[in-house]
Amino acid sequence: MAILVTGGAGYIGSHTVVELINAGYEVVVVDNLSNSSEKSLERVKEITGKEITFYKADILDRDALEEIFTKEKIDSVIHFAGLKAVGESVKKPWEYYNNNITGTLVLVDVMRKHNVKNIIFSSSATVYGTPKEVPVTEETPKGECTNPYGWTKSMLEQVLTDIQFADPSWNVILLRYFNPIGAHKSGKIGENPNGIPNNLMPYITQVAVGKLERLGVFGNDYPTKDGTCIRDYIHVLDLADGHVKAVKKLEENAGLCIYNLGTGNGYSVLDVIENFEAATGKKVPYDFKPRREGDIAVNYANAEKAYKELGWKARYGIREMCEDSWRWQSNNPNGYEE
Ligand code: NAD
Ligand code: UFG
Repeated sequence: MAILVTGGAGYIGSHTVVELINAGYEVVVVDNLSNSSEKSLERVKEITGKEITFYKADILDRDALEEIFTKEKIDSVIHFAGLKAVGESVKKPWEYYNNNITGTLVLVDVMRKHNVKNIIFSSSATVYGTPKEVPVTEETPKGECTNPYGWTKSMLEQVLTDIQFADPSWNVILLRYFNPIGAHKSGKIGENPNGIPNNLMPYITQVAVGKLERLGVFGNDYPTKDGTCIRDYIHVLDLADGHVKAVKKLEENAGLCIYNLGTGNGYSVLDVIENFEAATGKKVPYDFKPRREGDIAVNYANAEKAYKELGWKARYGIREMCEDSWRWQSNNPNGYEE
């Protein structure tokens, strides 16, 4: 039996495919390559020495999904496929709701027709909105999202929760990721944003590699120790391992489960720059810029539930995250482009 990984050519998906193969699982990937390159899967093959069954298809394409579920013996799905750029989602809400929500509804419908009722869903710490208290636990109430992307995650959590409630033979695991950074130790796969990066770490690595001139630090007047925002950065390999542990939980007929995947440590933007410089010996020139709309001052996880129930804990610290992001960027200045 195989695990279908939607969005498996993407950043988190490709790292998870490596970890699943290493753990002995058979994997089938579906991805429309709208935000990724098939080369990531070639690299996964180089890393693992295993062929990967890949379908270039859109999860909105019901016929394509039908074909995959008919041909392959799928018993669970890890659902990464989705659009994820916060700013773009504000400009193109229809595209985000259609891709993420309609796409998931089609996927889940085809799954139940084929009696596949195990799903792990990529959610986000963004569903907490502006939390009243940090660290956030899974009991922290969900909040108001500040953009359509965030709402798609929040709404899809509800959709999957309601589906599991109506039919308890479903197993649904919602994983709320904090801030994934880092890359595979081989330097062969990593984050490969289109155009100018929106997120902090790829911006830093592109400055360090000379593709961008200076980093803008958005806001230095937040109520934090140095005035810059605090986040819970987590190594993508730890995140990938969290999915392997979640697959084991599905095998126990878990019902509905929700887990934060974070380290429990918060770092400011200046902390990240300092750690990156120390880890790599590269200078990252920066300027303070006005606050970015929608940013919250502080967010980090209480990740004890994942430890207690999945036996999962983040292994890597911020230095290694920086080292590994840099190895990927410096080995591949243009990402997967030659
Ligand atoms: P990514 O863009 O690298 O990967 C997503 C993959 O899904 C891409 O390969 C893309 O081509 C594919 N895809 C998108 N729409 C599709 C569709 N309709 N049909 C088939 N394939 C489609 O992003 P990522 O960083 O690897 O994120 C994976 C998941 O985790 C996403 O759902 C994202 O929202 C979620 N997430 C990411 C972060 C983060 O900071 N990276 C944080 C929280 C949650
Ligand atoms: N930042 C900068 N300069 C940049 C980019 C980011 O100063 O060029 C700052 C941001 O203001 C923020 C911090 O770095 O304080 C982290 O920003 P990211 O964009 O890397 O990450 P976010 O916490 O804003 O967003 C991430 C994911 C979203 C998700 C959100 C909440 O990218 O998908 O976490 O879970 F919705």
